[in-house]
Amino acid sequence: MKSIPLALSISLAAVTISAQQVAAYEVGDLIVRAGIATVAPDESSSELAIPALGGDIAGSAASVDDNTQLGITGTYMLNSHWGLGLLAATPFSHDVSAKTGALGLGSVDAATVKHLPPTLTLQFFPLAADSAFQPYIGAGINYTVFFDESVDSELESVLGSGKLDLDDSWGLALEAGVDIALSDKWLLNAALWYLDIDTDAKFKFDSGVSVATKVDIDPWVYALTLGYKF
Ligand code: NI
Repeated sequence: MKSIPLALSISLAAVTISAQQVAAYEVGDLIVRAGIATVAPDESSSELAIPALGGDIAGSAASVDDNTQLGITGTYMLNSHWGLGLLAATPFSHDVSAKTGALGLGSVDAATVKHLPPTLTLQFFPLAADSAFQPYIGAGINYTVFFDESVDSELESVLGSGKLDLDDSWGLALEAGVDIALSDKWLLNAALWYLDIDTDAKFKFDSGVSVATKVDIDPWVYALTLGYKF
């Protein structure tokens, strides 16, 4: 996280940029940004359904931890106030744990899953085209694909070896961000998204036992990036 104090000091320097040094946001501009992106799930899940044990396990739930990756975002300006935004990243990897509730096993490391959450938004930039600060809001769609799902050895020590599958998810995406000009080409960006990501998780164990749960991951995504305007 060493880059953040540096980024903040650069952004303070940006305040002194005069309007003449800032190229206007115009139709056809492509802004490409790269930096750090964190996916922080705000998850809720249904109780774990284990048919072999009679159905839903009272008090059980799945939870998903945070992960940070290389984030890449882009904006293509349709005119000086509207842009098309894309959020991309290297694959996020999350540990999934399970509260076992009435099973009485406490909290168990259940799985590791990777995902890519490409997100396309329509962005609105309200300020004048030549402003050095370009805040924006956006709305659009998220597609999340899960892969490399693997069952954790802690869960396998209880239920034997198994497999996990998570359904892909389509959902609403909302975002807010700001571009801060450093020069006529370079800029800093801070951005925040809310992604509606819902999935069905199904564990199947070689013993024949299955465990299913619906998980609303619904993460906040935070990104701090350095951008270049083409
Ligand atoms: Ni949801």
